[in-house]
Amino acid sequence: MNPLTIFARRFVAGERPQDAVRAGERLHAKGIKATFDKLGEDVLDEDAAKRATDAAKDLLRLIPTGIERNISIKMSSMGQEISRDLCLENVGGILGVAKEVGGFVRLDMEGSKLTQDTLDIFHTLRKNHDNVGIVLQAALHRTPEDVKEAVRRGDRVRLCKGAYREPASVALQDMGKIREAFKACAHELLDGGNYPAIATHDEELIADTIAHARARNIAASRFEFQMLYGLRKSRWEELVRDGWSVRIYVPFGTHWIPYFYRRLRERKENVLFVLQNLFR
Ligand code: FDA
Repeated sequence: MNPLTIFARRFVAGERPQDAVRAGERLHAKGIKATFDKLGEDVLDEDAAKRATDAAKDLLRLIPTGIERNISIKMSSMGQEISRDLCLENVGGILGVAKEVGGFVRLDMEGSKLTQDTLDIFHTLRKNHDNVGIVLQAALHRTPEDVKEAVRRGDRVRLCKGAYREPASVALQDMGKIREAFKACAHELLDGGNYPAIATHDEELIADTIAHARARNIAASRFEFQMLYGLRKSRWEELVRDGWSVRIYVPFGTHWIPYFYRRLRERKENVLFVLQNLFR
């Protein structure tokens, strides 16, 4: 096994969907929920987009009834960069299967060149489906407006900082400012949103969310924390022990390199965490 593969095993549940489901079952036994993601992005070939679509449908059917059938997908692997119609057809088909099996599909948010298109496709799909949610990235300048719109529409939002490198014209660059933007968006979603997901490992933001929920008497059942497989495991368990809902993003598959590099690149702390974890 090469060193990269050893590193990636921290962040990726395995190569096969069965590996991910097994990780989901282990989480479930601890009262922790999961969302499963078959890794893959930036597909420019119609057949590959169809294969990714079929894999997502199979995954929904494979997840045992005992654990929630909750998956996350990247629309760039379902034909988003080929044509809007193809993507709508593919993702609409996935949502149809999700409905049959009582599942939920989260549309991950990718780089800013796809933001508006992702929101447009999401709004089109929302006309016929209520088992679909979106992701908004606190770092983007546009996000406070997108949060307001999502609250107005009753859309289910996962709020994260944003994992893609963006220019200053599009996104905040300073971590302090990103944190302040995250808090403001999270408060708005907690106050008026539809079961928001607060997706961060950042203790300042987790503590702020808990303080806000307590101050406003927002029940733990009205939102959830989300974190990534392999990061801050003991914190997931503590949060659950304290009565909060936690869902872990469980990626699997062979196309793990872009996902893995984003985790290492986004903050130098993550490299340190990987190294600490590796040698602990
Ligand atoms: P960040 O990595 O910025 O770290 C900040 C602080 O958190 C650290 O200084 C430390 O205090 C603490 N911390 C972090 N890791 C720790 C550890 N292992 N142990 C102890 N402390 C730790 N992005 C995107 O663009 N589109 C998407 O669809 C998604 N989806 C998504 C789903 C889920 C469930 C999560 C958690 C994240 C995403 N992201 C995402 C990624 C997100 O945008 C962001 O890049 C990462 O979560 C990193 O930012 P954080 O706020 O988690 O902490």
